Amino acid sequence: MRPLRIALTKGRLENETVKLLEKLGYDCTAVREKGRRLILPVGDGSLEVVLAKAADVVTYVENGVCDMGVVGKDVIMEMGGTFFEVADLGFGRCRFAVAALAGTDLYEGYHTRRIASKYVNVARSYFEKKQVDVDVVKIEGSVELAPVLGLADAIVDIVETGTTLKENGLSVVEEICPVSARLIVNVAGMKMRKEEIGAFVSAVEREIASRAGK
Ligand code: PRP
Repeated sequence: MRPLRIALTKGRLENETVKLLEKLGYDCTAVREKGRRLILPVGDGSLEVVLAKAADVVTYVENGVCDMGVVGKDVIMEMGGTFFEVADLGFGRCRFAVAALAGTDLYEGYHTRRIASKYVNVARSYFEKKQVDVDVVKIEGSVELAPVLGLADAIVDIVETGTTLKENGLSVVEEICPVSARLIVNVAGMKMRKEEIGAFVSAVEREIASRAGK
């Protein structure tokens, strides 16, 4: 049988997840010295790390080519999909927010507002719940540009420190919800490799609980 495979979101979440795996006793030297390799063995070879873009982590786990994955709640909310979300890992904390040019009133007047976002589904469903009519424009990154350039009245984006908003003359209009990294598990894998996955998830949960208690 192949090792259990966990897909990690490259970048910041990857670093935090590697620290978590090391806390659980997995030797992550191969990941730390990965070069350009994307599949790395960790620990005694019972676990394999796959490095992918956030949205692809969900795709690999949904399709069962990876048993587990670590991905932000922002991506889960945007993409949806069929998998188990088994733990809030407590890192990668930020929040979804609506932001607009500082000093403007987003809700003034009756026109249809234009909202720019990388997270079009999150943006649509948020304003639908509020029963506010919006046109949502998909932007791939640096979404803060859209209101500054006059393309949109506001953005829906993740905010961590708030520095990007501030330095571009924007401010938060409304907070939507908190976001953090989640551990997700393939549905069939949860049954087929129940013991191994169960043991891994329990170890993760214990480590998170001990961090929360500190
Ligand atoms: C994210 C987000 C904001 C920024 C928020 O962008 O889209 O632009 O981080 O962080 P802050 O509140 O600490 O300033 P990311 O760095 O992921 O790049 P992107 O804009 O290309 O998506």
